[in-house]
This record gives sequence, C-alpha cells and structure tokens, in this order.
Amino acid sequence: MSGIFASTETIATFVANICEMSGVNVLIIGSGGREHAMAWKLSQSPKLGKLFILPGNPGTAQLGENIPLNVLDFDGIRTVVIEKAINLVVIGPEEPLVKGLYDFLKGDAGLRNVLVVGPAKEGAALEGSKNFAKAFMKRHGIPTANYGAFTREEYGEAVKFLKTLEPPCVLKADGLAAGKGVVIQPSYEDACTSLEEFFNGKFGDAGNVVVIEEFLRGVELSVFVITDGKSYVVLPEAKDYKRVGVGDTGPNTGGMGAVSPVPFATPEFMMKVENTVIKPTINGLSSEGIPYCGIIFFGLMNVGGNPYVVEYNVRLGDPETEVVLPRIESDLLELLMLCAAGKMSESKLTVSPQIATTVILASGGYPGSYAKGKAISGMETISNAIIFHAGTTSSGSLTLTAGGRVLACTGIGDSMEDALASSYSAANAITFESKYFRSDIGLDVYPNS
Ligand code: AMP
Ligand code: GLY
Repeated sequence: MSGIFASTETIATFVANICEMSGVNVLIIGSGGREHAMAWKLSQSPKLGKLFILPGNPGTAQLGENIPLNVLDFDGIRTVVIEKAINLVVIGPEEPLVKGLYDFLKGDAGLRNVLVVGPAKEGAALEGSKNFAKAFMKRHGIPTANYGAFTREEYGEAVKFLKTLEPPCVLKADGLAAGKGVVIQPSYEDACTSLEEFFNGKFGDAGNVVVIEEFLRGVELSVFVITDGKSYVVLPEAKDYKRVGVGDTGPNTGGMGAVSPVPFATPEFMMKVENTVIKPTINGLSSEGIPYCGIIFFGLMNVGGNPYVVEYNVRLGDPETEVVLPRIESDLLELLMLCAAGKMSESKLTVSPQIATTVILASGGYPGSYAKGKAISGMETISNAIIFHAGTTSSGSLTLTAGGRVLACTGIGDSMEDALASSYSAANAITFESKYFRSDIGLDVYPNS
C-alpha cells in the first residue's frame, strides 16, 4: 500500500486506525546489530508493508531493502522517505538524533504525515551533552554521582574539584565521542594528566567541557523506555558486558554480550527505578517544555539496592537490543507508531518470561586496531540461535568481517543455562580468522554459578 494517509487525513485519524492498519512502510536508520534486531522484530508485524534499512548490513538485506546512504545524509534520507512512500522512520544511532534528523524530517511540510521515532535534538541532548544531562538530573532530584563541569579556562577549579573526590576519578567529555569519552583513573595524578589531554583536544570539541564525577560502586543495568513524553512503557531490562576481557577486565568496548532479564532487577528495585528515575525524567522533560517521542535508555548503577543514573542515551543499546527485542511479545511496529503519534497511553506491552543471552563475536584486537575483510563461515549451520550482523559486509557470495564487533549470537531458553548453550554453540560453530568472544557472559548473574 503506497500512502496510508489520504491527503486530508490527520495523524489523529491515523492513530485511531493503527490497530486495523496494514501495509506500513518502515525505514530504519543505522547499520549495526541493534538495527538488524529491530528489522528482525518489525518483520514479524502483520502491519508491515515494505521494510528499508539505511544503510543496513548483510543481515538486514535478508529482511528488507538496504539503501546505501550515510545516516547523516539528511537530504538523501528525505528523498528516500518520499520515493519509497515511507510511513514510519525509526532512527537507531545517537549521532543523527543529536544532529537533529528528527527535527529535519518533522519540520518538512512535505513529510507532514510521516511518523518519526526520535527524539528531537533538544531531548537528544540528554546523550549529546553530559553536562546538560547532569544539570537536568540535578534540577529534578534524579539520583546520580556528584559532579562538576569545567571548561579549559576553569582548569584550576577542575583540579581543585578533583582533589575533593576519593579516587578512582571519573572524567567525561561533554559531547559525543563514539563511546570513548569516559576515562576512569586510579589516582588524582593520573586524573590530572587525563584532564590535560581532554583540554588539549584528545576528543576534539567533545572535550571542550569536561564533567568530573564521583565514582559509583555497584553493578550496572540498562533500562529502556519508549515514551511520547507523557506516557511510557518499560521494556525488558538487560545487563551489558562492557569490558573486552573475561571477568570484566581490559578496556571498555561497545559491549561484548548481554543478558535479559537481570535477576537483581527485582520488582522492588524496578519500582524504585520507575519512581526515582523514569517518572522524574519524563516529568522533567515535560515541565521544561522539551518534547520527546522516542527511546530513553537509562544506564543505571545499582548502588546498595538503589538505582543511580550513570548516563542517559536516547536510543536502544547495542548489544542490549539483541536480547531485549526477542523477549517482547507485543507488536513493536504498533508500539513505535503509537509513540511517534503521541498516543503511548493506548499501548500495552507483553514480555516473554524466557531468558535471552547474546554473545558478541569480535575481531581480535578490538577495541584497538583489528583486521577487516576476513571470510565468515558456518552461519548457515546455526538453527538454535539468532545471528544478528553487527560489522559485516558482502562480497559476492561471501560474508566478510567489517567491524570490531562482527556478529551477535542470541540464544533464548527457559533458563539462563539453555539460552547460553544456544549462544555459545553458535559462537563456536561460526568461524573467521582472529575470532574472539568472552566466555563468561551471564555467569555472574546466573544463580547457580
Ligand atoms: P558512560 O559513557 O557515561 O556510560 O560511561 C561509560 C562507562 O564508564 C559506564 O558504563 C560505567 O561502566 C563507567 N562509568 C561512568 N561513570 C561512572 C561513575 N560515576 N562511576 C563508576 N563507573 C562509571
Ligand atoms: N551497550 C551500551 C550502549 O549501547 O551504549
């Protein structure tokens, strides 16, 4: 169906019909494991018409049509939306959000009836500026580590503030730094060295302002909501394994694996998350007049049974999405349409009690330098796990490695043990030169470990 809307139809009448709708053309922006998992889940919707992924990857190419454009090519994206008669745009990564893709599309009179899952640029500052996020939390009494924010000119005050903190010291570039802008230093002296590096341009303009904060001791948890700025649904929580090495050792990565659910996220803990973090955040956005249609990702630390916000992101997590979406039983397309149309209060979410785990197959050397272009084999033999492509490319009939994180092997089972058995049998069966994966995903939260 090419045009869901008659020209005179409004979004309000459109929403009234969402439940009966079919033939919805969807454009997913992004190319990682997260976007492959979204494409996989949206493909299950009876409402889906045609699915496009921009630029997508060899995994998404099996589910829809990939469009080889850059996620920051806003004019190109606009043309695709028109030419492919797109009804819903879902923006996966943070950079186009922080740079205003939502605003660009929604501000175009020619795209009046196109739904977009955002947020807009103003709300995306929750991820785009750590200083903005910290000040926002302070204004709304949302639990987070104590902090100070300093410019280059305030170097002396920054050093003084560092001295007031008990090491380790946490320093963060204010702006987006491709997930690398956080440094944790064991001593005051090391922290001062890092501070100089930040101000000398190690992270470019992103480090013009540095957030220095107190170190929180606890276990991390990722919680996601879909919100229209008024109502929200809480998606299944997940635990990400950020360090490259077994036993949480070595440098931070984008994430080496994930599990959902997370046993310590008890109903009591999640109630605290809703009351002290989620509601004050959504109410805070609304009271400050910041519209927000999209995802909020709360990066939390469980400190002695109480949630603290380590960071906000304005998108789904990767690899968390690869365990969160397989547990959602509801129609994700309907949820996202209701979100984008401001009708989240009419949504409901059902979640499977099953357990999902994902193990990332990485290229040896990641998160440092690593080889690309290595042939991947064995994927066709996998029948009891879902393989999401994260960093791959096609060359004729071959699939080659093209990124640090190459594939996510998701297993689903009635127990963590069963889910992990599926993930790891796939992780072992798939081969490529210098394949590396963590062998301990989920073992810390598995009750019998
Ligand atoms: P962020 O990009 O803010 O999530 O930081 C990256 C990672 O650094 C987090 O996932 C945590 O593991 C760690 N981190 C950030 N801030 C703190 C903090 N205040 N205390 C302890 N660990 C932190
Ligand atoms: N896995 C953490 C993130 O997506 O930022």
